[in-house]
Order: sequence, then structure tokens, then C-alpha cells
Amino acid sequence: MTDCIEDVLINQYKKVRQQTLNLCKPLEIEDYVVQPSADISPPKWHLAHTTWFFAQFLLSKYCADYCWPNVQYPRLFNSYYKTQGAHWPQPRRGALSRPTVKEVFEFRAQVDSRVVELLASFNDEIPSDIQATVQIGLEHEAQHQELLLMDIQFIYWSNPTLPVYHEKHVDLENTRYKKPINYKLFDEGLYTFGAGGEGFAFDNERPQHPHYLQAFKLAQRQSSNREYLEFVHDGGYSKPSLWLSEGWDFIQSQQIKTPLYWHQNAEEYFEFDLSGLSLLTLDAPVRHISYFEADAFARWAGKRLPTEFEWELGAEQCKQGQDVHGTLWEWTSSPYAAYPGYQQPEGAFGEYNGKFMYGQMVLRGGCLATPRWHYRSSYRNFYFPSKRWMFSGIRLAENA
Ligand SMILES: [Fe+2]
Repeated sequence: MTDCIEDVLINQYKKVRQQTLNLCKPLEIEDYVVQPSADISPPKWHLAHTTWFFAQFLLSKYCADYCWPNVQYPRLFNSYYKTQGAHWPQPRRGALSRPTVKEVFEFRAQVDSRVVELLASFNDEIPSDIQATVQIGLEHEAQHQELLLMDIQFIYWSNPTLPVYHEKHVDLENTRYKKPINYKLFDEGLYTFGAGGEGFAFDNERPQHPHYLQAFKLAQRQSSNREYLEFVHDGGYSKPSLWLSEGWDFIQSQQIKTPLYWHQNAEEYFEFDLSGLSLLTLDAPVRHISYFEADAFARWAGKRLPTEFEWELGAEQCKQGQDVHGTLWEWTSSPYAAYPGYQQPEGAFGEYNGKFMYGQMVLRGGCLATPRWHYRSSYRNFYFPSKRWMFSGIRLAENA
């Protein structure tokens, strides 16, 4: 007997929600609350905010008797949805000792049981608007699972004791990083980009549309720590000619001389990650660099960053044998903007992506912290060009 759509959705819901809890298992209670920088959210906030999403958009709308555990929760755990009322300022999320971590776990459990109850209550098929809300809530949760790991790494790095989140379980060292980069040629032409079809995609991936590309070459692997170290040793961070104007001002004002998590001790470089501090692995992809650094490195190498369209063509045509989905998000030279014909959704979900289409750059691919089911070649991630705490890397391109 096959599962009905109700069971499929309920099982998917439980699985995704449980995964967020699994990611928190290595944490100590104190880890849940701190916010060492305005960009970072305390793990407790991620746990509560992803739950707020279902309480706000599903339970408050479809369960007449739903009652928040505390009248302040909608304000404390709304991130940026102005249509949903006031929200607590992001830089002050770490100022909240209450609700406690225990209360936030109780909030999650309460919301989970109400959501499952709601989904199980339909005798016929679950109404499509409810299915769509659960789906976007789970995609949202997946995004926060990645943010949670990014933030935990930064929280641990901000502590001089440099705690370890987990033992090393993925080795990024690979012999392919020892070999020179191969570049694959792509012919000029009119190609189709963006998400089509029925499957889930965020509004910013639609509509599917044609876009003309000149011939170009795309690197068949990401740039390595060894290559980036050459850039560092060659004075890459002290040559203004390599940098965008704003990038130069940024590295000068912040005294930036290496990727975010590198530590130098005498002549040796170490790197911090979720497995703690270890000697920099040279034959592994360079990570935690800003757009400005990626762009300067590319210029130093006599190459450039790919546009997001070049990247997507590369991903679509090289699904076998290319590491486009999996290690690090890759900076593209494309500003985050609406595709031709983009339609911002009506209502609160119109705030999900559209209002951020200014001043940010697109990253493509996915990273080790991205849930596998969440990858898509059309997926568009975006960050401000100075940000470095996400799992970002570099793939070079050049004109043919
Ligand atoms: Fe969110």
C-alpha cells in the first residue's frame, strides 16, 4: 500500500524538524544564547524562529484555537516580515535570556504536534495552500539548518578556547587540488535558465527565461588553499590594483589579510572549522572568503568569476564529475536581481526574497552544511559582498 500525500508530508515534516534538533545535540546550554556579532543568530533563536514560521503562517491561520505560549513570541521570533507586525532587532537577539532554551524546545514540540494534528485532520487531500505553506516552511528550515552550522562555527571561533563541534568526518583534502585546474569550454549561444516545471523552487529562481552567453571557460574544480596562499604570499592583500574600490576599503578598515578562519603562527597557517583548529590543508578548497577577496584573487590569477548564468550552464552540463553541488557555495559576479518577468508573490511570502534584491551578490551550488534534498542547479543564494562567515569558495572562469 502506498503512502497517501498526507503521510508523505507528515513524515517529511517530522524528518526535517528532527534534523534541526540533531544539529543541536553537540551544543552545551550556554552555546544556545550567545551572539558574538550582529550577523550571527543564537542557536536558540534559530530553533524558535523556524517554529514561529509554522505557528505564524500555518497554525494562526488555520487553527482557530491556536494560542501562542507567550504573547511576545510573535515579535521576538519574527525575523523581518514587516507585514506580520513588529520584530525584535536582529543585533539584539543575544540579549534575550528568556524564553529559556527549555521553553523554546517546548514551543517546538507544541507546534510540531499541532502541525501534525492539522495535516492528519483532512479526510481528503490536504488543501493546496496548506501543502504549499508546509513546503516553504520546510525549505526555510533547511536554510536555517545551514545558517545554524555557520553561526555555531562563528560562535565557537569567537571563543578563545576554540571548542570542537564534532570530530572531523569529511576530508576536504583531495589529490585533484594538487593538479592544475582544467577549464572546460562552453559554446556561445542562447540558453534557458531558471526553474521551470512543477517542483519546488523559490520565487527568485523563476521564471525560466532565455539568456545569451558568449563562449567561456569554467574551472573544473574550486580554487585551493595552496593557490590562495600563493596570492597571500604574493602580497595580494596589499596591492590596491587587484581590488574593487569598496573591497580595498573593506580589507583596510578591517585589517583583513587572510580568509576568515585562518590563524598564522610563525610561518605556519592553521584553519578553524567545526572540527576545531588544525594545520591548513593545502590541497583543499579555500573557504570563508568575501566576494571582494574572491574577485581580487581571480584578478590576480588572470581570470574572473563566472556569472550566475555561466555557473548554471556549467552545473547543468556537467552534472557528472563536477563538484558543483556540495563543498562550498561559489561566488558569482552576478548582482542579486530579479529575473526578467519576475513576480513577487502576494502577501507575506512576497517578503521572502524580493525585497533583498539590492546590493548583494549571487552564490551558487550548495555546501557541506546544505541538506542534500535542498540542492538545485537553479538555486540562488545571496550575501553582501563583504560577508565571509558562510561556507563560500571560489570557482574561476575566463573568456574563451
Ligand atoms: Fe528565516
